[in-house]
Amino acid sequence: MTEPSTNSTAPKLAVPRLLTGQKAIVTGANSGIGRGVALALGEAGADVVVNYVVDDAAAQAVVDQLQAFGVKAMKIKADVSDEDQVVAMFKQMIEAFGTVDILVANAGLQRDSAFKDMTLAQWNKVIGVNLTGQFLCAREAVREFSRRGVVPSISCAAGKIICMSSVHQEIPWAGHANYASSKGGIKQLMESLAQEVAPLKIRVNAIAPGAIRTPINTSAWSTPEAYKALMTLVPYGRIGEPEDIARAAVWLASDQSDYVVGTTLFVDGGMTLYPGFATGG
Ligand code: BGC
Repeated sequence: MTEPSTNSTAPKLAVPRLLTGQKAIVTGANSGIGRGVALALGEAGADVVVNYVVDDAAAQAVVDQLQAFGVKAMKIKADVSDEDQVVAMFKQMIEAFGTVDILVANAGLQRDSAFKDMTLAQWNKVIGVNLTGQFLCAREAVREFSRRGVVPSISCAAGKIICMSSVHQEIPWAGHANYASSKGGIKQLMESLAQEVAPLKIRVNAIAPGAIRTPINTSAWSTPEAYKALMTLVPYGRIGEPEDIARAAVWLASDQSDYVVGTTLFVDGGMTLYPGFATGG
């Protein structure tokens, strides 16, 4: 048997042009999953706002790549946990692009700690960015979607929100109580909001990624030993790539998924299938 490697067997697939003329904002789009999603939305024909809070050069590089697809792109620095900055960001986007059709509320971080040592600052930081940040961004998006309504030449829906959740909205995670709580909160935020705004033709859904190769979890995949241990949790036998999440986001943002409302799409290689029970139980 060959030694598990950190090389992915993820397919390289073209992104269909399902989003021509739509205006999208992706939070935390300077790296990782957010970067992958922003690029795929642009490849699918959307104009894209790249939100970021650190690393201006990385955000600019995403903007440059997006412009190479022939779409409009701009970066906006804003901390999603800060109400004034979020309100100003949406105002700036609407002034520049005219409106908003798609929000991907993606910005998220980890501040891991054993529970007894977890500081209030670590707790508040994670809840502030991961959960309150999604509330603030979704609220501004809903305000714009409901002001504008459906434009049939653009989309069947008045707007689409995709909340970036995690397998940890379901799987408890020792040493990460703040992060798992934020993702459990996103589940109820997404479903309650989806129920409330569906009559306005606004579709709210979530993606729950499993282990994706990004900077947030480098320690889980960057050595052969770590990768091998990770694979005991992934029945499909490979790590996820940002493109795996990005293609799901394009579909959820497009009219191809028009009847999908309030759903969490798990993109996790089977991580939520209780892989330990394949041989135990
Ligand atoms: C976390 C990663 C982790 C993955 C699977 C994600 O939500 O951010 O650090 O590898 O879940 O456990």
